[in-house]
Amino acid sequence: MASATGPVLECKGISKFFPGAIALDAVDLALYPGEVHALLGENGAGKSTLIKCLTGAYRRDSGKILLEGEEVSPQSTQDSQKLGIGTVYQEVNLLPNLSIAENLFLGRQPMRHGFISQRRMNSMAKDLLAEFGLDVNPAELLSGYSVAVQQVVAIARAVELSGKVLILDEPTASLDRDEVELLFSVIEKLKARGLAIVFITHFLDQVFEISDRATILRNGRLIATRRLAETTQTEVITLMLGRQLEHRIQDRAPSEAGDTLIELRNFAKRGVIDPFNLTVRKGEVVGLAGLLGSGRTETANLIFGAVQADQGEALFEGRKIGLRNPREAVAHRIALCPEDRKSDGIVGDLSVRENIILALQARQGWHRPLPKAKVNELAEAYVKALDIRLASLDMPIRLLSGGNQQKALLARWLATNPSFLILDEPTRGIDVGAHAEIIALIERLREDGMALLVASSELEELVAYSTRVIVLRDRRHVTELKGDEITTSNIITAIADEPLAEAV
Ligand SMILES: Nc1ncnc2c1ncn2[C@@H]1O[C@H](COP(=O)(O)OP(=O)(O)OP(=O)(O)O)[C@@H](O)[C@H]1O
Ligand SMILES: [Mg+2]
Repeated sequence: MASATGPVLECKGISKFFPGAIALDAVDLALYPGEVHALLGENGAGKSTLIKCLTGAYRRDSGKILLEGEEVSPQSTQDSQKLGIGTVYQEVNLLPNLSIAENLFLGRQPMRHGFISQRRMNSMAKDLLAEFGLDVNPAELLSGYSVAVQQVVAIARAVELSGKVLILDEPTASLDRDEVELLFSVIEKLKARGLAIVFITHFLDQVFEISDRATILRNGRLIATRRLAETTQTEVITLMLGRQLEHRIQDRAPSEAGDTLIELRNFAKRGVIDPFNLTVRKGEVVGLAGLLGSGRTETANLIFGAVQADQGEALFEGRKIGLRNPREAVAHRIALCPEDRKSDGIVGDLSVRENIILALQARQGWHRPLPKAKVNELAEAYVKALDIRLASLDMPIRLLSGGNQQKALLARWLATNPSFLILDEPTRGIDVGAHAEIIALIERLREDGMALLVASSELEELVAYSTRVIVLRDRRHVTELKGDEITTSNIITAIADEPLAEAV
């Protein structure tokens, strides 16, 4: 056994090779009881792979794992959970149509005379979640609760049996500020109990807020482990990228918008979003700001026809159009790059190449396949332009790192050469370097005369690229900011304020 001050878990020289890629090259990691340890690096750096090797979800090619000083070799996530290593993966695997209690105890339900005892399960679930400060009805469907609650359920499931190490792969990617607070309070409680917690994220502010130490990976190699009290964000970014971040967010270029491209009048869907008017001109980026659930995504979906409006009219280049479904939107070269890449976006088993040309092929019709050379040329051009890291265009897209999947999805819609591009959270799960590239890309598309609508929870970014910002609250468009009015503090005021002036 290790002494009380020794690491609870150690990885020594972990390597993992994939055809065409060295995902991990002799990486070391030591976790101490009661510490939050951030695992950082660019998209594709090897963070998720390290976690999967550690838990046995992937077979490592070399290296050792020591738990409290003894060598262990878990063969699966269940195995490592039995050893006390709980994991919540980047792709949360809960079942929305089961109850909270069922999700917590799936596969290990308390039995009574050969039957699952619902009552006992519900009361155990209630007690367990109360420990995390969550007061919910465990008999209700998981899908009825917010992503944050679902996240806490996933954590409770992961630590319930274990209690030595908890690994969280991008747990806050789709949480708003209050929900992050809830999650952080759970992390603090577990830390106080002496768990070692691994926290993977691209939000560096959050890293500095909650973590004690950070390990930085680059191209599958261990670059450094740092005590966060003794370092700065700039140093961490430089270690991640291997260079300094060049593009700082620039001042907004003056807007020289062209003709009106799309105009929505009195558009609405009862119970989803209140009536709004919206005009977007060519060469304009309209930002959508608001808390999670304020109606940003709903606005985007309504315009794309993914959700059907029940009132209002739409004009495209001055002519009335239906916008009743995505097919109609695509026919007018309207594109929507959705927020949730897993459920609305990628087709995991298709190759990266096929995923990139999917929308273009669909618009052209499946009976007229795009010529092979053209497909290759397009896919290669976008992989280069967006710096998508992959071993080959033939690999199934599910094998790309999370952030690289997000970029491939963006490529799919750019390949359709849209006249109007709607982006919902375009930088979610994307690393700092790629953030800067996507912001620059939005700028470039706007200068080329595209009309864009971008929903984002990253206010600095909205301020950087938007020529107008619409603020939403409680499913209403409440304020519009233009020109010099577009500042983060004005946006925050509008998000938080009591009802402002009249709706736009
Ligand atoms: N099963 C697999 N087959 C082939 N290559 C893989 C597989 N799993 C991961 N890779 C590759 O290994 C590298 C590391 O990927 P990993 O998912 O660990 O990155 P990450 O640091 O978690 O990135 P992100 O921040 O985007 O989630 C990537 O180049 C990825 O394409
Ligand atoms: Mg990952």
